Amino acid sequence: MTDHFDLNHWCTLQLQRVEQALDNWVSVAATADLDHSAPAELMVAMRYAVLDGGKRLRPLLVMAAFEAVTQAMRQARLPVAAADEALALRAACAVELIHAYSLVHDDMPCMDNDVLRRGKPTVHVEFGSASALLAGDALQALAFELLTPEDASVPAARQARLCRLLARSAGCAGMAGGQAIDLASVGRALTEDQLRQMHQLKTGALLQASVLMGAACGDATAQALQALQAYGAAMGLAFQVVDDMLDVTADTATLGKTAGKDQAQDKPTYVSLMGLASARRYAQTLYDEALAALAASGLPDTRALQGLASLLVQRSS
Ligand code: IPE
Ligand code: IPE
Ligand code: MG
Ligand code: MG
Ligand code: MG
Repeated sequence: MTDHFDLNHWCTLQLQRVEQALDNWVSVAATADLDHSAPAELMVAMRYAVLDGGKRLRPLLVMAAFEAVTQAMRQARLPVAAADEALALRAACAVELIHAYSLVHDDMPCMDNDVLRRGKPTVHVEFGSASALLAGDALQALAFELLTPEDASVPAARQARLCRLLARSAGCAGMAGGQAIDLASVGRALTEDQLRQMHQLKTGALLQASVLMGAACGDATAQALQALQAYGAAMGLAFQVVDDMLDVTADTATLGKTAGKDQAQDKPTYVSLMGLASARRYAQTLYDEALAALAASGLPDTRALQGLASLLVQRSS
């Protein structure tokens, strides 16, 4: 592991693959055999929600975890199947589709009522609420379709494990449950424990699942899995702490979404709970926890995961 690791270069390569794959899979061509234009129009809204924007941090976490695990496998002289490489890319896209769907619904008038996302009008502003609802539904379904390729290249047990990880992180015990707490908490002062739980569910769960799904595309040791679980938990929570901070510190143009919304809507956040300086310190503590977990993972090379952790905590948008 003496060679130089360039995180920017690594991200550029991974992002090229992810963008290309998303463009292929979220495709109007998929509706071509339907004798109706409405599904094609729905697909236009889906593409609008997914393509041309987004930092793609979750797909990058999938790819970084997969690389860390497969490097360990190669070191142990275990084979890494080409099908597993392809599966990791599918998993990366599946996580992004769930994330994109969650954003479409999060922005709707019945939730955060936002008009700007990724520098563009939100999906419901552009296509109407019914189309936004359906685009979210269809993106969620497509995510699971991606995890279950039609050919026999991926063992059924591996497909099932990926589906289970993603389903749990997106459902009532994950993102959707966290969003329910978020909506029920408007105007209420939460305790630190309550706020942590809300953030772990609404945002942390899917980020942690990204890491674990990357690992699940290879064969990780129990030690590595435990470490990646801890890394994912710390980074997942840190991500939403930073999101709360950026809502206060960054401007709308930089964020690509309306700044200052949390205070305007009286949402409990880490900034409202403990103030900006303490929130920043907390994010740093979580970053340190994430790096400590990697150090105890037994994985030979975790530089991409380390780099992403620092990117995630230091981001400006
Ligand atoms: C925003 O997520 C929503 C949260 C879960 C806080 P990101 O900041 O990852 O949004 P994109 O994908 O880059 O637009
Ligand atoms: C959203 O949290 C989390 C999701 C599950 C989408 P926020 O409501 O804080 O996300 P932003 O700030 O609108 O991106
Ligand atoms: Mg919200
Ligand atoms: Mg929101
Ligand atoms: Mg926010």
